[in-house]
Amino acid sequence: MKSTASITTPIYYVNDKPHIGHVFTTTVCDVWARAMRMQGRDTFFLTGTDEHGVKVEKSALAHGVTPQEWADRNAAEFRRVLQLFDLTNDDFIRTTEPRHEAQVQALVERLKAAGVLYKGAFEGWYDEGEENYLTETRAKESGYKSPVNGRPLVRAKEENWYFRLSAFAPRLMELFTSRPDFVRPEARRNEVLGRLREGLQDVPMTRTNFSWGIPMPGDQGHVIYVWIDALFNYITALGLGNDSTPKRHPYWPADFHVIGKEILWFHAVIWPALLMALEMPLPQCVFAHSFWIHEGQKMSKSLGNFIDLPAMEGYVSKYGLDAFRWFMVTRGPLDSTDTDFRALAFHETYVADLVNTVGNCSSRVTAMIAKTFDGVMPADSFAGGEWPARCATVVQAWQRHMQQFELGPAAAAAIGLLREVDGFINRTEPFKLAKDPSRRDEVSSILAQCAEAVRIAGILLEPFLPHRMKDLQSAIGDQAPTMDWESRVRWGGLKPGTRITKVALYPRLEAAVAG
Ligand code: MSP
Repeated sequence: MKSTASITTPIYYVNDKPHIGHVFTTTVCDVWARAMRMQGRDTFFLTGTDEHGVKVEKSALAHGVTPQEWADRNAAEFRRVLQLFDLTNDDFIRTTEPRHEAQVQALVERLKAAGVLYKGAFEGWYDEGEENYLTETRAKESGYKSPVNGRPLVRAKEENWYFRLSAFAPRLMELFTSRPDFVRPEARRNEVLGRLREGLQDVPMTRTNFSWGIPMPGDQGHVIYVWIDALFNYITALGLGNDSTPKRHPYWPADFHVIGKEILWFHAVIWPALLMALEMPLPQCVFAHSFWIHEGQKMSKSLGNFIDLPAMEGYVSKYGLDAFRWFMVTRGPLDSTDTDFRALAFHETYVADLVNTVGNCSSRVTAMIAKTFDGVMPADSFAGGEWPARCATVVQAWQRHMQQFELGPAAAAAIGLLREVDGFINRTEPFKLAKDPSRRDEVSSILAQCAEAVRIAGILLEPFLPHRMKDLQSAIGDQAPTMDWESRVRWGGLKPGTRITKVALYPRLEAAVAG
C-alpha cells in the first residue's frame, strides 16, 4: 500500500450560499481522510473555492462591491462551514490566490508550448448560467434550454483560445477501456463513455466578454475560462505548476476526486485530457455522487427549499454532529440514485443506528461492567473465544471498503460488529449469570470480550462518528490513539484492570424536527 492518500472536493462557487450539497461532498471526503490518517497514511484532503467568472462579477456588481470583496466574503462563509462541521481539510485553495494564479498561467504556457492550444472563432449554443457550450445534439435534446436551470440557450460567437480536446479522443477511449474504475459509480462511467462515442468538440480556454479571471499569458483582453482555471486547483494546491515547491508533490495523483454528477464531464474528460497534454499522471478515480433532494422535491432557488446552513445547524444542535454525518454518509446519494432528505428518515436512522445500536450496546456493556465488576475491566480466561478472528475479519473488510471509497459498506461492517455483540449478550445472558457466584469466571469472560469488541468497533466508527467515539474511548480507558494502527485494532488492547465507566452516547429524542 502506498504511504500517501489524497482526496479532493470540487472547489465551490463563491456565488452560492453553502448548503447540504457542499457539506455532503466535503463530509464524505472527510470520513475517508480521517480513515486514512487513522491508518497512518500521509493524508492530504483538499477543498476550496472557485472565485472567477462572469457570475461572480455580476453578483459583486449587484451587491455594490468589487468581485474580490464578494469572493472574500463568501469564501469566509465556506471556511466557517468547515469549522462548524468539524471537517479536517489540510488546505483550502482559493482561485484568486497568487499561488494559484501564477501556476495556472505557467500551466497554460506549457499547454501552448505543447501545441494543444489554438486561436479560433467559434459559434454555438451557450448556457449562460453554467458558462458552458452545448453540442448541437445536446442542445436539441434539451429543447434548446439549459439542462440545469431550464433557461433558454443563447447563440453565442467568440474568438477564443481553444484546447484541442478532440485530439485526445483515442487516448480517452483507451483510458476508459483500460481503467474501468477511473469513473465511478459504473452508471456514471457508462454515461461518459456514451458521450465520448458521440465525438469530442474542442473546448474554449479563454473568454473575452468579461474581465474577472486570470489573464491569458501573452494575449491581453483574454481571461482563462473559469472551468480550466478551477480544474487546475487540484495541482496548484500541490505546487505542481511550479517545481520549486516539491513538498506536496507526493500527493499527486489524487486517489479520489469526489464530485457531484453534474460536473462529471469536466472531471472525467476535459481534466484527464489536460493532464495528458501536460504529461502528468491522472487521478486514480473520479467519484461522482448523485444529488440530495428535499422531501421529494429537487432543491432550487425558485422553490427556496435548500437545506441550508440554518437548517443543517438545526439538525446538528438537536441530534449532534455525529448524527448528521451518519445520516449523510450512510443514507446519502453516494451511488447513482438521488436521495430524499426527509426529517422523518433522519430521525428513524438516528434512533435505529445511533440510539438503539451504537449507544445501547456500549451503554449495556459498560453498565454491566460498572455494576458487576465495580467498573474494572475483568479478565478473560477464554482468550476471546471466537471474537479475535471475527474482529480481524471485520477490520480487514472495513479497511478494504475504505480503501475503495465504499463508505456505506465500511460503516455497515463497523456497526454490524456491535449488532453481533448485542446478539452475543442476548444469547449468553451475562446479566442472569451474574446472579450465580459460581459462574463469575464466565461472566468475566463474556463482558471482557464484549468490551474489547466494542472498543474495536468504536475505532472503526470513529471517522463517521468522531465526537462520541472519542467519549467512548475515554470511558473505556482506551489510550490507544497514540498507537500504530495494527496494534490499535489488534484483539487484546483493553487490559484487565482498566477503569471502565458507564457511557450514554446518544440520547433518546422524541420527535423529528421539521424539515
Ligand atoms: N465550482 C464548480 C466546481 C469546480 S471543481 C474544479 C462547482 N461548484 S458548486 O458550488 O456548484 O458545487 C458543486 C458541488 O456541490 C457538486 O459537485 C456537489 O459536490 C455539491 N452539490 C451541489 N448540489 C448538490 C446536491 N443537491 N446534492 C449533493 N451534492 C450537490 O460546480
